[in-house]
Amino acid sequence: MSFLGALFYDKLMKSTEEACLIDWRRELLKNVSGKVLEIGAGTGASLALYPKNSELEIFLSEPDANMRGQLEEKVSQKKLSNVVVLSSPGESIESKDDFFDVVFVSLVCCSVTDVQASLREIKRVLKPGGSFVFLEHVAAEAGSSRRKWQNRLNVFWRKIAGNCHLNRETEQHIRDAGFNIQNIRHESMRKAMSIVRPTIRGVATLN
Ligand SMILES: C[S@@+](CC[C@H](N)C(=O)[O-])C[C@H]1O[C@@H](n2cnc3c(N)ncnc32)[C@H](O)[C@@H]1O
Repeated sequence: MSFLGALFYDKLMKSTEEACLIDWRRELLKNVSGKVLEIGAGTGASLALYPKNSELEIFLSEPDANMRGQLEEKVSQKKLSNVVVLSSPGESIESKDDFFDVVFVSLVCCSVTDVQASLREIKRVLKPGGSFVFLEHVAAEAGSSRRKWQNRLNVFWRKIAGNCHLNRETEQHIRDAGFNIQNIRHESMRKAMSIVRPTIRGVATLN
């Protein structure tokens, strides 16, 4: 993410966050417990939405220095002693195997360099029986006019939006990686540009 992109990120996302994302994040995170890793935590949009549980250990990983600077500032302002900020990317997570109870991603699988490698890493660091919780914008239905626009604009969009791919088939990638999707919702992201509106959110496991 460019310096300016990171600087204005929260402002650009504000109306979408208020229209739907805050509610979706809160709902997805309400039952998390134990050791939780959030990959690509960005500026910390989900930080205030984790349950207030002193036994929760939260690891926020953000490889982009501009985004991470804001994340670290929020963590230190809130004086959160149960939160650790890491800098590793999804493709090489700084962790032992079988360590986390939950791995959470929001609007990240679209941006990682290698989505398959990132999903392999998530499998590696999740404890047996752990949960992979996701909230992602995804490719529109194949053949739809929205999908055609996503395909046309993808190269340009990646350049201006921190490598965000408009047309990633993330649900298929999650299934192909060997996860079992326990629940999934497909919903339009309100107050967002048409090309990023299709979303999926839910929980997947490895058993
Ligand atoms: C659209 S932002 C979403 C940020 C945050 N998760 C949220 O929901 O607001 C995408 C994030 O993915 C991060 N990202 C990009 N490539 C990544 C990678 N290879 N591994 C982990 N995170 C990555 C970016 O730095 C950025 O913070």
